[in-house]
Amino acid sequence: MRTPQEMIAYALEIDQALLPFAPALLADLEELGSDAERIVTILKSLNLPTSARVIDLGCGKGAVSIKIAQELGLQVLGIDLFAPFIDHCRAQAASAGVADRCHFRCADVLSAHEVEVGEVAAGEVAIMGALGDVLGPPDQSVGVVRKYVRPSGYMLISDGYLKDNSTAMIAGFENYKQRAETLSCLTAHGDVLIEEFVETPASADEEDEESDLILSRAQSLAQQHPHFAKALLDFAQEQRNENVFLNNNFVSAIWLLRRALT
Ligand SMILES: C[S@@+](CC[C@H](N)C(=O)[O-])C[C@H]1O[C@@H](n2cnc3c(N)ncnc32)[C@H](O)[C@@H]1O
Repeated sequence: MRTPQEMIAYALEIDQALLPFAPALLADLEELGSDAERIVTILKSLNLPTSARVIDLGCGKGAVSIKIAQELGLQVLGIDLFAPFIDHCRAQAASAGVADRCHFRCADVLSAHEVEVGEVAAGEVAIMGALGDVLGPPDQSVGVVRKYVRPSGYMLISDGYLKDNSTAMIAGFENYKQRAETLSCLTAHGDVLIEEFVETPASADEEDEESDLILSRAQSLAQQHPHFAKALLDFAQEQRNENVFLNNNFVSAIWLLRRALT
């Protein structure tokens, strides 16, 4: 069982000692893995009433939550364990003019549904965007997500699977499987897979741009904090390596599921 700090660090693929630097290292990125525009497009096709409530599990810096509130007018609750990100989410929601319908809460999604019974009531949609396997393999993750959504409500999971011919491996991806096995895990609780949206891989230029932004932040932090210089620069390099691994060995997808009645 990981501690909260370990979970945040694992999900952000960062050494725990570097967590205080995470907001600065990731200052140039709002989306931390999910494609907010794609998620909004999928939700839009569901024609939900504006009273519908969406719960964004592990909302990070709030890019997905805020876009949903802005473009679809839905009620959104974003939950994340990392307090600096929750502060950022609230400030961003206020400046986007959606603070009335987009709320954030600093909590562990493994227990937030039960800690204060009723406060996090089930919604019509629960999203798990780019959390990797921090909550466990896909069947366990869906087991957590489905606690936040009403029976026959929707679950949107943004993650991926290994390509059939993939042989390479890097840290953090050891538990990933190929497509068929991943899909059977996703539906292990009897929920229905409505649609799979395979994501177009980012271009090499887009990836380089993101890696360069992180490297530039790591370099300036390394100058201010020489003791952490190596760890900061290693983090930037690992992010670059991961992008290359993902492009060659991984298929990113968003799955739309409908929760079974039980
Ligand atoms: C890679 S980020 C993805 C953020 C966001 N969904 C996005 O795609 O932009 C993963 C987030 O999960 C959060 N996280 C990890 N474990 C968590 C948990 N048990 N409860 C709540 N948040 C968690 C981390 O703090 C981090 O912000």
